[in-house]
Amino acid sequence: MSTRTVIRGGLVITASDELHADVLIEDGRIAALAASNTPAAQAFTPDRVIDATGKYVIPGGVDAHTHMELPFGGTFASDTFETGTRAAAWGGTTTIVDFAVQSVGHTLREGLDAWHAKAEGNCAIDYGFHMIVSDVNQETLKEMDLLIEEGVSSFKQFMAYPGVFYSDDGQILRAMQRSAENGGLIMMHAENGIAIDVLVEQALARGETDPRFHGEVRKALLEAEATHRAIKLAQVAGAPLYVVHVSATEAVAELARARDEGLNVFGETCPQYLFLSTDNLAEPDFEGAKYVCSTPLRPREHQAALWRGLRTNDLQVVSTDHCPFCFVGQKELGRGDFSKIPNGLPGVENRMDLLHQAVLDGHISRRRWIEIACATPARMFGLYPKKGTIAPGADADVVIYDPHAEQVMSADTHHMNVDYSAYEGKRVTGRVETVLSRGVPVITEREYTGHAGHGVFTPRSTCQYLN
Ligand code: URP
Ligand code: ZN
Ligand code: ZN
Ligand code: ZN
Repeated sequence: MSTRTVIRGGLVITASDELHADVLIEDGRIAALAASNTPAAQAFTPDRVIDATGKYVIPGGVDAHTHMELPFGGTFASDTFETGTRAAAWGGTTTIVDFAVQSVGHTLREGLDAWHAKAEGNCAIDYGFHMIVSDVNQETLKEMDLLIEEGVSSFKQFMAYPGVFYSDDGQILRAMQRSAENGGLIMMHAENGIAIDVLVEQALARGETDPRFHGEVRKALLEAEATHRAIKLAQVAGAPLYVVHVSATEAVAELARARDEGLNVFGETCPQYLFLSTDNLAEPDFEGAKYVCSTPLRPREHQAALWRGLRTNDLQVVSTDHCPFCFVGQKELGRGDFSKIPNGLPGVENRMDLLHQAVLDGHISRRRWIEIACATPARMFGLYPKKGTIAPGADADVVIYDPHAEQVMSADTHHMNVDYSAYEGKRVTGRVETVLSRGVPVITEREYTGHAGHGVFTPRSTCQYLN
């Protein structure tokens, strides 16, 4: 039986427009929009009305970079697909794209099957997968084509983590050449991991074991060098490139220069680089371990370049790189040796709110907020216009957002399965009130009304953002 829902009286915000409109939802999709208080809007005959007067009506967030249950450094990221997608919904995100992992010696197929098994039946919201390619060979190159046919159209490679996820330049070039042919998008972790490992060894030999040294050895210059190299390899291959978790001014400059040349080179940054800094990594009593991720947090001065990049479109996407590890028992694995601290920060629940705060702080416009958090990630990864916008035919993934509500971020109140918040005590204005996923209420006036298994695997087309 089909239900017709109307969201009345809100300010609908997409990447391109802001309008006071009523939104008609039918069979899980947006059926129509009509300016509020007009005969067209009054002609909507719903079974259910959601009053959004004084609120924003925005597309559900698309978080294109999460790591639920990621195995890392002898442990696993602490959010499962069940807890992590529930937390995402609480934060106004209705689609995640998580990273399936090929481990060395195994096929892409084995890795993807394993991630399907973890996610299926457990997710509160829709999800897709990228594939981490750790072992480039003739077999994996062929498998890339098959994965694209199944809706897994993007592949992450690492210039960091030698011996784990690392690919050398030859492997990277081969994967890029393949993606130039099959339409896949290579996502690059751009840090010179070979040089970083030398600096890690030297730092530890000097007795520099605290978390803050994680930031010192993973130098901005080595992010810039790897970014530059990745761009040149992509140029040689004739392939597009998406650089993940950009944190350094110098890396943004490399992207900007390549884009000025007209290359299909894209960059993502994350809230932690926009709002946190090496000051956090330097917190005493091993508290800095809570902020260990790679690329690392940078000195505060780098934030201006990231905000500027987001305004000038040298950076196109803000994803979370949500990869939570509890302080107790997980981050603590690196007491006495920062290189053993599992890398990653929690944040899937915080992204939409932090970026709304950035609107209030004057960094970005409201429409740019929706563009970098919803529309562009959907386009970049082949989900548009099913996801990322509010338009007839789109999935009814819709957030009713209260732009005036105040909140204090805290581990006491968040829904992520992790024992700390990277933003503990931070006051922000704006809060998710109600969340629909394909028309189904997942959060209803700040109550969780969803269920595990509502979210389904969402196959993606190839990149829709190319020049
Ligand atoms: O520190 C991070 N970012 N952990 C997750 C893995 C990655 O490199 O994205
Ligand atoms: Zn990475
Ligand atoms: Zn990541
Ligand atoms: Zn359901």
